[in-house]
Amino acid sequence: MILGIPFELLPAAASATSGAVDVAVFLVFAVIGVVSLGVVAAMVYIVVRYRRRPGNLTGRGHDPATIWRTELGWCALTATVFLGLFTVGAAFFDRIERVPADADALDVAVTAKRWMWSFHHPNGRRELSQLHVPAGRVVRLHLASEDVIHSFYVPAFRLKHDVVPGWLRTAWFRATAPGTYALACAEYCGTEHAVMRADVVVMEPHAYDRWLAQGDDSRPPLAAAGRALFQRLDCGACHESHRRRRAPPLEGLYGRPVALRDGSSVIADDDYIRRSILRPDADVVADYQGGVMPTYAGLVDDDELLLLVAYIRSLADAEGVSP
Ligand code: CUA
Repeated sequence: MILGIPFELLPAAASATSGAVDVAVFLVFAVIGVVSLGVVAAMVYIVVRYRRRPGNLTGRGHDPATIWRTELGWCALTATVFLGLFTVGAAFFDRIERVPADADALDVAVTAKRWMWSFHHPNGRRELSQLHVPAGRVVRLHLASEDVIHSFYVPAFRLKHDVVPGWLRTAWFRATAPGTYALACAEYCGTEHAVMRADVVVMEPHAYDRWLAQGDDSRPPLAAAGRALFQRLDCGACHESHRRRRAPPLEGLYGRPVALRDGSSVIADDDYIRRSILRPDADVVADYQGGVMPTYAGLVDDDELLLLVAYIRSLADAEGVSP
């Protein structure tokens, strides 16, 4: 509190990566602070010391022979400091962006639309404007937008990830302490952008299990719903028959590199699967023909794409293939 106004320098730090973000921010502020103070102090000193007065306007030539050491030193110092900041930032960024492949990670499908957040748990439980997660466990978010660009922002987790229509993206966090943390949309998305909020409720693992069990279980779990859709669209006609070899098998696919016809390779992540459903000829898998699979654009919406992704993800370690 300052003068009766609630004030906090930083929001609570409640995720496995918030410390790293705070260190990076602190380093940048420290460097900026020290340099700014130095510049102001030097300015005041010079203004006073060399102010206009009789006698100090003559004999002010400067000696270019002695300045190069200062120039070189200054360049080397700033280069070192900024490259140091870059290295620290890049290392932290890599840690934050690289989604951990934890076996017991919790996969939550997140759909953003004007102006709400909806969440879909692996057992099929859905919630609106509230996300319950266990503390201490990696939560992988599979982010989709139904309309415009939104941004998934939880200050306490130091996590911000754009949610872009037409893309599926994955972000993650591991909450460290139970509590309720604010989730806000951090990308202007229309008149009610400011109220596009939700609560992330971090619970003790046993409390979370109890919460999950008491959900309305009328809806099939995520992967099962994806499987039902997969069957309804008759995807199995090509993808499940290994004999006809018209389409690549999907078992053990998720998260692995896929060799393409043009010699390049891609990782089979959410976005690759989405692209392959909507634009089958964007990445033709090596040893297969292009032009075989029709596009499913317009036939499946973003919610359904997340179901299909969940189903294909559930096949990742099918048939004894370990991830
Ligand atoms: Cu959604 Cu701003």
